[in-house]
Amino acid sequence: MPDPTEQNNCSVTICGTGSYVPEKVLSNADLEKMVDTSDEWITSRTGIRERRIAADGQSTSDLATEAAKQAMADAGITAEQIDLIIVATISPDAFFPATACYVQKNIGAINAMCFDISAACSGFLYGIQISQHFINTGHRKTALVIGAEKLSSMVDWEDRNTCVLFGDGAGAVVLTHDTDGNAGRKVLSSSLGSDGRQTDILHVPGGGSACPITPENADQNLNTIRMQGREVYKSAVNAMRKATEDALAGVELGAEDVDMIIPHQANLRIIEAITDRMGIPKEKTFINLDKYGNTSAAAVAIALDEANKTGAIKPGDIVVLVAFGAGLTWASSVLRW
Ligand code: UT7
Repeated sequence: MPDPTEQNNCSVTICGTGSYVPEKVLSNADLEKMVDTSDEWITSRTGIRERRIAADGQSTSDLATEAAKQAMADAGITAEQIDLIIVATISPDAFFPATACYVQKNIGAINAMCFDISAACSGFLYGIQISQHFINTGHRKTALVIGAEKLSSMVDWEDRNTCVLFGDGAGAVVLTHDTDGNAGRKVLSSSLGSDGRQTDILHVPGGGSACPITPENADQNLNTIRMQGREVYKSAVNAMRKATEDALAGVELGAEDVDMIIPHQANLRIIEAITDRMGIPKEKTFINLDKYGNTSAAAVAIALDEANKTGAIKPGDIVVLVAFGAGLTWASSVLRW
């Protein structure tokens, strides 16, 4: 087995963050009117109180564009300076072209090379790692990495097992080449992995080449999210904890060195199971899933921006990002902020 942990040489800095969530709020009380559920069940099982839903006509690239503009403003860069755009998403505007190309058009990043990646909830962290390699090898200088989802377009709104969990939103970072090796916000170490043996426990079964939507199956909602919740839950706890420990070990740090962990925002019980076992206290755990639910690839990206803008993470802090999602995929990165 290859070692999944990578230490990054420090010529890349995260120079800006941004995020955007749509205005429309869908509360647990609203969902009580749609399916057989209760605010008490959703809150106690997941920690989610409300989520945001994109407006009619608002696509994933629209959400991504708003997050990108914020990240560019935070970084103080122009669109022309960006030479790489990666959008991590499982809810692209279309099968093709890439959502990243729509973002490119929207912001006028005429010098960028653009593509999407599909790694579900881990996609934003995969994207950061990919962009680091482009920048470290000198092939690109300034990257925009975005996690963006309009999951409301892929949810079966009659399935209480899933429809209460997901929301829409986008988060972004700008990474750039940094000639001063020790300055700025750095990704120190990462651990990434996948397990394709468990593709079926969290997936959208239809709409792709394996199972096109036809007049005969159109009434089965095969193009919506299906999840075996308990199986995903168990795998998530184990994989996120191991990825975090591996990424920390990659730079000879331990849980006691962590100033803030920013985990994937799927379920408060999953997060607490990980942080309790690792001995990371609540005040060092960033949570916003109560407001947004699970926004897949956008979740860690939005949380990182909020942690940055609210001062929850400060210069010099050791920050751990960790995510888990369909595939299965997982990823953790240790940052020095
Ligand atoms: O982002 C990608 C990664 N995704 C995740 O990490 C999600 C992982 N899984 C989970 O977070 C949890 O498994 C869920 C929140 C999805 C479910 O929680 P659970 O404690 O595992 O519940 P369960 O699926 O075992 O269901 C318990 C009961 C069932 O009823 P019975 O069979 O015990 O009678 C469900 O039918 O709760 C029922 N149930 C609901 N009841 C009210 C399921 N959904 C709902 C609902 N409202 N919305």
